[in-house]
Amino acid sequence: MKLTLSVIKADIGGFVGHSDSHPEILGRANECLDKVMESGLLIDYYVTKCGDDLQLIMTHQQGEGSEYIHKFAWDIFVDCTALAKELKLHGAGQDLLTDAFSGNVKGLGPGVAEMEIEEREAETVIIFMADKTSSGAWNMPLYKMFADPFNTIGLVIAPSLHCGFAFDVHDVKEHKRITFNTPEEIYDLLVFIGAPSRYIVNAVYHRDTGEIAAVSSTQRLSMIAGRYVGKDDPVCIVRAQGNFPAVGEILEPFASPVLVEGWMRGSHNGPLMPVSVEDSTPARFDGPPRVIGLGFQLANGRLVGPRDMLADISFNLARQQANEMADMMRRHGPFEPHRLPLEEMEYTTMPDVMEKLRHRFTDIPAD
Ligand code: 13P
Ligand code: 13P
Ligand code: MG
Ligand code: MG
Repeated sequence: MKLTLSVIKADIGGFVGHSDSHPEILGRANECLDKVMESGLLIDYYVTKCGDDLQLIMTHQQGEGSEYIHKFAWDIFVDCTALAKELKLHGAGQDLLTDAFSGNVKGLGPGVAEMEIEEREAETVIIFMADKTSSGAWNMPLYKMFADPFNTIGLVIAPSLHCGFAFDVHDVKEHKRITFNTPEEIYDLLVFIGAPSRYIVNAVYHRDTGEIAAVSSTQRLSMIAGRYVGKDDPVCIVRAQGNFPAVGEILEPFASPVLVEGWMRGSHNGPLMPVSVEDSTPARFDGPPRVIGLGFQLANGRLVGPRDMLADISFNLARQQANEMADMMRRHGPFEPHRLPLEEMEYTTMPDVMEKLRHRFTDIPAD
C-alpha cells in the first residue's frame, strides 16, 4: 500500500517566551485534525510539540507536497495563531511569514519532511524533532546512521545494508542538489555536509532498492525571510529495521552530543541535548538546543505509537554531558565560537550595527 507520511511544523507562539507550547494550542490542533479526519483526507494523525514548535504528524494517500494536505496544515497554523494571540503567547504566528497560502507551505515559514513509501510488513519509523537549532543539525546524525560503521554495525554485518546508502544533499544558498554514494564517496560528502549551514542532507536512499530511508526539513527561515525570525527547528523522518539501520543504530548518534547552531536568539553554538517530549523545554539561555525522537509502527497508515525513544535512561549520560558542554560554551559569553561566526550573523543585528557605524570607520594608513 502506497502511503505518505508528512510532518509539518511551525512555531506559532511560545509559552513561556520560547520555552514550550501551551496545552490549549495542542488541544486546538487536535480538534482541527479530528475535523479533517471526518473528510477522509487523512488516515491518521498525531499532534505533539518540541519546545515552542507545533508538530503535525500525518498519514494519507495524497502523495508528497499535496496542496490539500499543505492547505489544511496551513489553516491549522493560522487557527492556532489566533488562539496564541488570545493567550498573548510569545511570538504568536512567528513562523507564518506571509498572510497568503499559495499551494505549498514550503517557502512560507513552516518546516516540512514528507516521504511516500510502500508500507512494509513491519514499518518502523522514528520521527526526530528539534528546537533551538537549524536545518543542518541532522547532517551528522544522518551521516552516522547511514555511513559510519562505528555507529551502525549493520553496514558491516547485515547483508541488507552492506550496499550502502545514497545521500541527496541540498546547497540551500545556490538552490542546487547533488547525490553522493556511500561508502565510496564519504570524503567528498563530508567536505560539503561538514558545513551544515549551507549544505543540508535532504534525503537518504537505499542503494540497491532505491527505497527512501530518511528525509529532513531543509527550509531555512532566515533565508526565506532575509532576516532573523527564529530558528528553523527542523524535523527528520527515518525508517528503521530490514533494509535500514536498526532502531538502536538510529538513536545512537544522539548518545554523543555535539555542537549545533541555534540556542539564544538563534545566534550561538550549543550542544544538542536528547530529551523526552516532556523535557523539550529549553530554559537555560533559551536552551540548550533539544532533540526528541518519537517511534511509531505504521499499520495500513495507522500511527501505532508513539514511543518516546530519547526519554530512555540510556541517554542520561548524554544529557549530563550536554549540560557540561553548555556550561563550557556559556563561558565565552558574546565571543566566538559560542556566538556564531560573522556569515551566520548577517541575518541578526550585525547589518544594522554596521550601517549605524559605517561612517565612523576610517582607513588605516599603509606603513
Ligand atoms: P531482535 O532479535 O530482538 O529482533 O533484534 C534484532 C536486532 O537486529 C537488534 O538490533
Ligand atoms: P525559536 O526559534 O525556538 O522560536 O527560538 C527563538 C529564540 O530567539 C530563542 O532565543
Ligand atoms: Mg519561538
Ligand atoms: Mg522553536
